[in-house]
Amino acid sequence: MPDGFASTEERATFIAALPKAELHLHIEGSLEPELMFELAQRNHVAIPFASIEEVRAAYAFSNLQDFLDIYYQGMGVLHTEQDFYDLTAAYLARANADAVRHVEIFFDPQGHTARGIAFETVVAGITRALDDTAASYGMTSKLIMCFLRHLSEAEAEATLDEALPFLDRIDGVGLDSSEVGHPPAKFEHVFARARGLGLKIVAHAGEEGPPAYVLEALDLLKVDRIDHGNRSLEDPALVARLAAEGMTLTVCPLSNLKLCVVGDIADHPLRTMLDAGLAATVNSDDPSYFGGYVNANYQAVADALDLSRDELLTLARNSFTGSFLSDADKARHLAAIDAYARPAPRV
Ligand code: HPA
Ligand code: ZN
Repeated sequence: MPDGFASTEERATFIAALPKAELHLHIEGSLEPELMFELAQRNHVAIPFASIEEVRAAYAFSNLQDFLDIYYQGMGVLHTEQDFYDLTAAYLARANADAVRHVEIFFDPQGHTARGIAFETVVAGITRALDDTAASYGMTSKLIMCFLRHLSEAEAEATLDEALPFLDRIDGVGLDSSEVGHPPAKFEHVFARARGLGLKIVAHAGEEGPPAYVLEALDLLKVDRIDHGNRSLEDPALVARLAAEGMTLTVCPLSNLKLCVVGDIADHPLRTMLDAGLAATVNSDDPSYFGGYVNANYQAVADALDLSRDELLTLARNSFTGSFLSDADKARHLAAIDAYARPAPRV
C-alpha cells in the first residue's frame, strides 16, 4: 500500500486532480501524430509516414539525438499562425485535463525561422492560444524562447534580436537541443544580454552532458532553473550546492526513459533527488514523443518508486515555487494545494 493512500487506485485519483504547474514542455514536442497528418495535408507538406501507426512506431529512440532528428522533421508541418494556435490549444486542453493550473512553455524559434517561417507567425499563434486558454480555463502561462545549442552563439544572438519586438510576451530564454559538445559556456554572452533585458534564464543541463555543464549553467549563464539536471547526482558537492541554493530541477521521467537517460523507470533518481533536498519537479518534456502528458509522468514514477502522498505534494508544491509567477500568485497556488491535501470533513 502506498504511504498515505488506501490503494494505488486512490493514489492515481489523487494525482489526477492534484493542482500542478508544468515547467518543462516543448510546445513542438506536443505535436500529436493526428495533428501532424492534418497539418501536412493542410499545408501540402510531404511526411515520410503512411499512417499514424507508422509515426508512433518511429518513436523508438536510443538517445537524445535520435529523438531530435525526428522532432525537427515533425515540426516541419507547422507553417501558419493558425497551425501554431492549433498546436498550442491542443496541448493546453490536455494540460487542463491534467489539473495543470500554470504552464511555462518552451518554443524553438530557430526550428521555424530556418524554414522560412516568420518569428512573428510563431509567437502570434502560440500567444493567441495562451490568451484564449487563460480566459477559458483560468490557467496562467509564461513563454520561454529556447536557443538551439547545436547552432552558433551568433545565431542565438540574431534570434534574440528578432525577439526584441515581442519581449512583452516572452518571459525567459532557455537552451536546448544536442547537449554533448555544446556546453553552456558557448552561449555565455547571449545569455548575459538576455539577463540584461530582464528575461528569466533556464538551460537544459545534465540530461546527457556531465555535471560540469550544470556548473557552467549556474556560474556562466546564471540560470534561474535547471532543465533535467539528472547527472548532477554524480557530483556530491554540486548536489549540496543545488540544494542549498534551492535550485529547481525540471525532471521529465518518461523522457528520461524514452531517451535512455535511465534504463528502467524503477531506476529513476527522482526520490534520490528529493531525499538529497533538491527542488525536483515532474514534467512531460515532449509528451507526444515520450508517451504521456504530465499526469502520466507523475503516475509512471509514482508507481515505479511507490511515491507517498507527501512526496507527491512536495513535487506539486515545488512546481509552483519554482515557477516564474509572482510571490502572491505562488502563495495562492500553494494554498490551493494545502486545501487539496486536507482530508474532506466527515459528515
Ligand atoms: N533535450 C534537449 N533538447 C530538446 C529536448 C530535450 O529533452 N526536447 C526538445 N528539445
Ligand atoms: Zn526538454
